[in-house]
Parts: sequence; structure tokens; C-alpha cells
Amino acid sequence: MNREDFPMLKQDITYFDNGATTLKPQTVIDKTVEYYENYSANAHRGDYDISYKVDLEYENTRELVKNFIHAKSLEEIVFTCGTTEGLNMIAKGFFKNILEENDEVLITKSEHASNVLPWFSLANTNNIHIGYIPLDDNHYVTLENVKKAITPNTKVISLAYITNVIGDIRPIKEITKFAHEHNIFVVLDAAQSVGHLKTDVQDLDIDFMSFSAHKMCGPTGVGVLYGKKELLENLEPINLGGGMNESFDNEHEVFFKNIPTRLEAGTPNIAGVIAFGEAIKYLEKIGLENIADYEKRLRKYLVDKLIAIPYIDIINIESDSGIVSFNVADLFSQDVAYYLNKYNICVRAGNHCAKILKKEVGVNNTLRISLYFYNTYEEIDELVELLNDKEKIVKEMI
Ligand code: ALA
Repeated sequence: MNREDFPMLKQDITYFDNGATTLKPQTVIDKTVEYYENYSANAHRGDYDISYKVDLEYENTRELVKNFIHAKSLEEIVFTCGTTEGLNMIAKGFFKNILEENDEVLITKSEHASNVLPWFSLANTNNIHIGYIPLDDNHYVTLENVKKAITPNTKVISLAYITNVIGDIRPIKEITKFAHEHNIFVVLDAAQSVGHLKTDVQDLDIDFMSFSAHKMCGPTGVGVLYGKKELLENLEPINLGGGMNESFDNEHEVFFKNIPTRLEAGTPNIAGVIAFGEAIKYLEKIGLENIADYEKRLRKYLVDKLIAIPYIDIINIESDSGIVSFNVADLFSQDVAYYLNKYNICVRAGNHCAKILKKEVGVNNTLRISLYFYNTYEEIDELVELLNDKEKIVKEMI
């Protein structure tokens, strides 16, 4: 689908590392250049035409994001530099101030580092407990297991919508409904999902969400922190500086601006935010339902072919997303990735920053194929053909 829109695909490469970052369509690249060439002023500071133009473009992206995730208001959309920054802001700017000793945050062992380490830091500063929702035999989260895992001390459940190694799509709406009945906040790490799956924050009723533009055809260095307005208003800014304050004086009295500006200190990644708007328009034109549907078909095609290779062990056969993690028996995943690289096939190997998952699945490292809508059945054929000859892999991997 739409391969001609991606300059990177003019190179002789097969790009299967979309979980790490996606390729960028020409419209996103053009918009970045347009900003730098035509109206490269700062945002929210100038009293001249090109500066107004920047403000309009920047705020236009906020509107696009709001509609894309169906937030209630523009104030609920904060630009960050990525998922990691957003999750740190949520943990350290909001929960650090309200969690008390022995309160519990529930995560799972398949979370990515950015949905683990900020909570570990609260375990140190606030003496809270980090609990793990048990995963089922497929390494999935089920509502039943969430129900079993909560205790009277559970105050937060923080989960990826789609995990980056197992690729399972979690039942977030059901979990949130149950959590709220027990006065538990729900935080969503949407890094791997928001460019692949229609996300409606009001329907899911989540309290906070964080995601990155670069995993959904947008630029690197841009992300979004979503929070329900009444919660964001109580999120303490981690970064203090220009743009976010109304006034301050030599007595140290500081007045902050309202959200979302209060949470966007300093000069932001203006070009990135503006170009991110083009990524949203681009994905909406294709349609998130079409993307999810195509990825599902592509995944089934890949998994069916890999299953037929006796020495390949897939660790997430059943998942619904475009993420397929596997190993070639007795071979180190990075060596196999190196072999595929010789044929210009880009895959990720290792633990994929989900470092406590290894105990759960019983393997330290995997090869990961993460698909997107511009991948093709022919690319999968090429990959499978290369994997179908173990002798060749062993001979060529070093
Ligand atoms: N979290 C990204 C990945 O899974 C970097 O590759």
C-alpha cells in the first residue's frame, strides 16, 4: 500500500523494523522543509507575520491530534519529545505527588522500559509497590488476571495498548471500566498502537496516554501526552522555563500559564510538531481500520509461512498486531539479523527494551519483524526464502 509515497523505499531495502520507527512519507518531509525554508520563527513568542503563521501551523497539529484520538478538548493535548518523556511526566509530575507508601502500581512483565523505569523510580522515592499482572499462556493480559492482581492498595494500572515484543492488543476498555469501579487510574502507553489501531480516548476512558510521532509516520523527537483535563491541571511541570510561565519576580513568585502551555516549557520541536500534522492527515486518508486489517492479513501470511519452517520458534503465534517475534533454533538472534542485513532486510534483534520479559517467555533474545501498511507479501516471501535454508544462514551469518 502507498509505497510510492516513501522516499526510503526507493532504496533497495526491505524495512521490517516499524516497531522501532516507521518510515516517513514525502508529505511529512516536505512540511519539515517548508517550515525551515519559509517561516522558521519561534512559536508563541513573536509579533510578526511568520511567527503568527508558526502559531497557526503548530496549533493546527494540536487540533489534528485531538480529533485523531478523540480527546474532549485541545487543553488535553501536550506536545512532548516522545512516549518516554510523556510517561515520565505522568509518573513524576502527577503520581509522585499523590502516591503514598505501600500504594501499588500494576504493570506487566512485557512492558517496554519507558513504562517500567519511571514507576521503579517512584518505588524508590515514594516507597510504593510495583506489582505485575500475571500473563496467560500466550503472554497476554486478561481482564480476569487484572481482577486477580488488584489489591486494596492498587492505585494505578499502567499498560501498553500493544506490547512491542508479544504484540498483543490488550482489552483496555474493559480493564479501565473495572479499574475505575475500584478508583484505580489507568495509564496507556500507546507507542506501538496509535499508528496501527483506531484509538478513542473517551471511549477507552483512560486517564493518561503517551505516544510518539515517529512510530506513526511522523518525525522523531515529537510525542503527545494526553490526560483528562482535570488530571492534567494537577500535573506538576517537570520542566520550568520560558513559554510556560505567565510571570515571575525576584521574590521567586512564579505564575504558570494554563495547560497545555504550562507543560511545554522551552522552544519545542516546532518543525517536528508541524510535520506531525501531515503524518496524521496521511494516516487518516488511508484509514486506521484499513491499516489494522491489512497488517492482520500480512501477519497471518508471515506466521503461516514461518510455522512451516521446523527450526523456527515463534513466541507470539496468536497475536493480532503486526509484530512477530521468533528465533531460529540454536542461533543467536543478532547473528541472524546480520545475515538478513546482507540481503538489505532490516529487522530488530535482542530484548527490545522489554528486559523483564525474558523470564516470562523463557528466551533472552528474539528476532522481531514489525510490519506496517507499506510492507508487502512479496517482501515476506523474500524473507521466508532466506530463512528457509538454515545451512545458508549458518554459513553467511558471520
Ligand atoms: N520501543 C522501540 C522498539 O520496540 C524502540 O523497537
